[in-house]
Amino acid sequence: MDRIRIVGGNELNGSIPISGAKNAALPLMIASLLTDGTLSLDNVPHLADVEQLTRILGNHGVDYSVNGRREAQGSAYARTMNFTARNIVDTTAPYELVSKMRASFWVIGPLVARMGQARVSLPGGCAIGTRPVDLFIDGLRALGAEIDIDVGYVDARAPKGLIGNRYVFPKVSVGATHVLMMAATLAKGETVLENAAREPEVVNLAECLNAMGAKVSGAGTPTIVIDGVAALSGATHPVIPDRIETGTYAMAVAMTGGDVILEGARADLLEAALEAIEQAGTEVIRLDNGIRVRRKGGVIRPVDITTAPFPGFPTDLQAQFMGLMTRAQGRSHITETIFENRFMHVQELARLGARITLAGQTAIVDGVERLRGAPVMATDLRASVSLVIGGLAAEGETIVNRIYHLDRGFERLEEKLSGCGAIVERLSE
Ligand code: EPZ
Repeated sequence: MDRIRIVGGNELNGSIPISGAKNAALPLMIASLLTDGTLSLDNVPHLADVEQLTRILGNHGVDYSVNGRREAQGSAYARTMNFTARNIVDTTAPYELVSKMRASFWVIGPLVARMGQARVSLPGGCAIGTRPVDLFIDGLRALGAEIDIDVGYVDARAPKGLIGNRYVFPKVSVGATHVLMMAATLAKGETVLENAAREPEVVNLAECLNAMGAKVSGAGTPTIVIDGVAALSGATHPVIPDRIETGTYAMAVAMTGGDVILEGARADLLEAALEAIEQAGTEVIRLDNGIRVRRKGGVIRPVDITTAPFPGFPTDLQAQFMGLMTRAQGRSHITETIFENRFMHVQELARLGARITLAGQTAIVDGVERLRGAPVMATDLRASVSLVIGGLAAEGETIVNRIYHLDRGFERLEEKLSGCGAIVERLSE
């Protein structure tokens, strides 16, 4: 299995192109199930999760091509991918496929809306705590679907179609917002979703649905209103830049020092995280087509953060910020409120010499003067990249094992970092 070798101590200087967002691309790809037309998505990142979802959609009968042809090996950044679900050949999403990636459960919404039935395995995904699907089930029931849970599968049926309704999410959920919004586009009448997720990926999906002929308004606010239509058509739509990748590299620069332009990044997608980085002593300059991050000298200051749904500090940047705080001058508190088990990186950061104590949902981080390289391994995507951030500032060699997690969400990480002067290489076996 591939590993990443890092020799820490170098500043980062130069520029890093920001890829399309994984968490925007996945629901957009799933939206292709809603129409028999072709959905062309621009700026799709080359990531293991995108490939996996392509296989899952293929199982339902979705045909795909890249830039107008079938994909060759080693394709470039910023692909245009075309998805066509002319005929849905299978409305079952089997365990073998869904267990590899939680987001694939989301096919349940478009399938039941367009085909009147779906049988989808309960999901798997990252080891970041139990992630139930009660909100999806309650919400689809509110739209008139009959749902049974049968030996590990969710069976949803609406033979006469879904019916618009008002649904109040008892808890903010990105995935359940995506699914109900997609399902409601083909329901009869009006659907009102209250306490909806406001994440930029929800807005990106709503804009795509509207380009396909849906009538969605209010995405980006807690209340989304969807007027159902009889059918959707194909469209062309861009994937937004990845705010988590942006924040990750900004934190890497804050950690090592240096001066880097994050090309194509959009500051409005991650203001809470950028403010935390500024408070930690790094300059953040918002440019027209990117963000410049600079720390020349000075110290890393301790900053307390608490994760929250958008526009709060994203849980997907919590591990990376903890990586940064391990070298702050003083004590910081990092509180995780979205997932109950998202501190798997703590023990591994400790292997690099970090001093972190856990107190319930809060990690107390006492900054240390130096980290030392070590072999480490992580159990989820964002945890893995926090170890890369640690390794960039550690003395000597850090080997990050099990990097298939990184390949799920970071496109060409080693190339992007080594292009800015870091010593980072992939060791293939
Ligand atoms: C999305 O996951 C992201 N995944 C996650 O990113 C991200 O951490 C998360 O949103 C929060 O921002 C994708 O977009 C593919 P949720 P999602 O439903 O939709 C609870 C990454 O590293 N909940 O908003 O699965 C749930 O347990 C990944 O890229 C219920 O209780 O997250 C959690 O505590 C990891 N019942 C909270 O809601 C439900 O039916 C928020 O989860 C659904 C969710």
